[in-house]
Amino acid sequence: MTPLPQQGRSVTPMPKTELLPPDDAGLARAAALLRAGRLVAFPTETVYGLGADATDAHAVARIFEAKSRPQFNPLIVHVAALDQARRIADFDATADRLADAFWPGALTLVLPLRADSGIAPLVSAGLPSIALRLPDHALARDLLARAGRPIAAPSANPSGRISPTTAHHVLAGLNNRIDAVLDGGPCAVGLESTIVGLTPTPSLLRPGGLPAEAIEACLGAPLARHSETGAPNAPGQLASHYAPSAPLRLNAQAAENGEVLLGFGPVDSDLNLSPGGDLLEAAANLFHHLHLLDRTGKPIAVAPIPDHGLGRAINDRLRRAAAPR
Ligand code: TXA
Ligand code: MG
Repeated sequence: MTPLPQQGRSVTPMPKTELLPPDDAGLARAAALLRAGRLVAFPTETVYGLGADATDAHAVARIFEAKSRPQFNPLIVHVAALDQARRIADFDATADRLADAFWPGALTLVLPLRADSGIAPLVSAGLPSIALRLPDHALARDLLARAGRPIAAPSANPSGRISPTTAHHVLAGLNNRIDAVLDGGPCAVGLESTIVGLTPTPSLLRPGGLPAEAIEACLGAPLARHSETGAPNAPGQLASHYAPSAPLRLNAQAAENGEVLLGFGPVDSDLNLSPGGDLLEAAANLFHHLHLLDRTGKPIAVAPIPDHGLGRAINDRLRRAAAPR
């Protein structure tokens, strides 16, 4: 029998982190863990990523829990092959051209997310776009192919710390907070991927391992820079962050004046993030539930969420969504 989760706590037990060798057995174990919704750090040519099944909302919520990330930044989805990427996002001619020229490699493309992608909304923080990358690393691609599903992966470090470029770095930050790390030795590039947004104007969202000049040479045109478009470019501050169209009222004890109530814990509500008060479950449900309530066209009241652990990231996102705009 599953014990009831304690109010406001996540019930994820702390795993003992396995250090997996870069051989057939290590890859098989890493892929099996990913398919079971567990967290596996793996090498890419840029930095080590902290991977989870991008189609499993609970697995993705665990990423934020393990990193103690106080915000739900959208994550990069890693794929083994181009046809897998095409099932997730819409590629226009410019996207095709950049993928042709630079994939596999240190380039992440932000593209329109397909409605039938199967990607958990937490991966893109509820945005209608998705960041995709096909890494240039044999072990990473072998793992992605064996996992058989898209893998969401931020850099495998605790929030606010530097990105890891060896399995030892990963363990120094995340030992016993993740299920395994696949040891592929040091990363060749050692810098995160360059992120280009194509929704639809090509713009440089983050400089990285692939020089912007190489991308501009391929496009035959300069990339828009955020300083030129006036938009903020720091991660988590993107102007495009998802907010419902209806007004949002926080720390509500009950719905008033035609509101719908988004509950947490044992409260009477229209939709509940987690009736048992489990923050991991609440994080996994957050964007999906907000989208559903938004479709009612009614103002949304949200029950109080404990402000610790994943609750901090949930509250951060709710405050942004409630802010005047
Ligand atoms: O090299 C890399 O890119 C590594 C390896 C593991 O692939 N990953 C990485 O992920 O650096 P992360 O989570 O540290 O950075 C992801 C960045 C965030 O800053 C986020 O703002 C941006 O990608 N991003 C993701 N999805 C986005 C979207 N839909 N729109 C705009 N930006 C997005
Ligand atoms: Mg990072």
